[in-house]
Amino acid sequence: MEEMETFIAGMPKAELHVHVEGTLEPELKFDLAKRNQLDLPYKSADEMRQAYDFDDLPSFLKIYYEGMSVLLTEQDFYDLTYAYLKKVHGQNVLYAEMFFDPQAHTVRGVSFETVINGIHRAQLDARDAFGIKTQLIMCFLRDMTAESAMEALVQSLAYKDWIVGVGLDSDEAGNPPLKFKEVFEAAREHGYLLTMHCDVDQKGSVANIWQTLNDIKTDRIDHGVNALEDQVLCDEIIKRNLTLTVCPISNGYVTPSKKTAEIKAMLTRGMKVTVNSDDPAYFPGYMTENLIATQQEANLTKDQVVQLVKNAFDGSWQQAEEIEAMTSKLSAYVAQ
Ligand code: ADE
Ligand code: ZN
Repeated sequence: MEEMETFIAGMPKAELHVHVEGTLEPELKFDLAKRNQLDLPYKSADEMRQAYDFDDLPSFLKIYYEGMSVLLTEQDFYDLTYAYLKKVHGQNVLYAEMFFDPQAHTVRGVSFETVINGIHRAQLDARDAFGIKTQLIMCFLRDMTAESAMEALVQSLAYKDWIVGVGLDSDEAGNPPLKFKEVFEAAREHGYLLTMHCDVDQKGSVANIWQTLNDIKTDRIDHGVNALEDQVLCDEIIKRNLTLTVCPISNGYVTPSKKTAEIKAMLTRGMKVTVNSDDPAYFPGYMTENLIATQQEANLTKDQVVQLVKNAFDGSWQQAEEIEAMTSKLSAYVAQ
């Protein structure tokens, strides 16, 4: 490995944008299908991987939701989460904030309780086994109704201590932030932090980012690359100290570009941009691969790579002392 790649691989890291269901690797999908006595329309994990054929958000989401059919029991959600945490512990991820999509499971007859109990138990066991710290963010599916999102919010309240915030994902087309204004207001009142996908190159991307700021008043922005098209919007994002969770390898699958020049531009402009993996089982690349791809394509300096990781610790939804402790580990690593 080149020196820079070795440096990136060894860095203590944080991940702020990963969908736990998007970490379901084909091999585990096969194991779970077998355990649940389900037939998959592929002969092997490799054949399944080759059938992953998407070039935009809707075509990806179709395959992503189909893949979830094997997740039925609490143990399935445990195994899914534990496998991801074990994998990224191996990449020196100290901290991960994971999205989960409860509505994608409750519509299939899998209870909220089953989903969250499995994920939570894996979080505890991974903390014990690897020291990795994690928090959960519940996402509403924006292509479902606001009423359905409100139902998910109500279901979540019994588990409020296990969930740090709420987000919004799935298909953005025709589903602007304003559709969920009341749901997000209610979530805020219940003490949740707020974030929201502002997916890349959507029709009305810039207007949707403005809504996210002015109508929803989120604490963070997921993706948000198109903000660069509006300098006033960039200034406002900086003024509000909003972190952006960008996912380059993912972007390269759903748009024509990994948007690494945009990541560099955001860094240069002083925006708190971070690099993340999104759905690493579908857009192949976990944290290390995403950082390496960004560094190589945009020709980032070591300082810029360090800044990306620092931004992630800084923008994480942890206590100040935790952020300081993790940032110190990063500084010690860089100094050595
Ligand atoms: N759900 C899972 N991955 C997503 C993505 N990249 N964008 C929107 N919704 C998602
Ligand atoms: Zn995402």
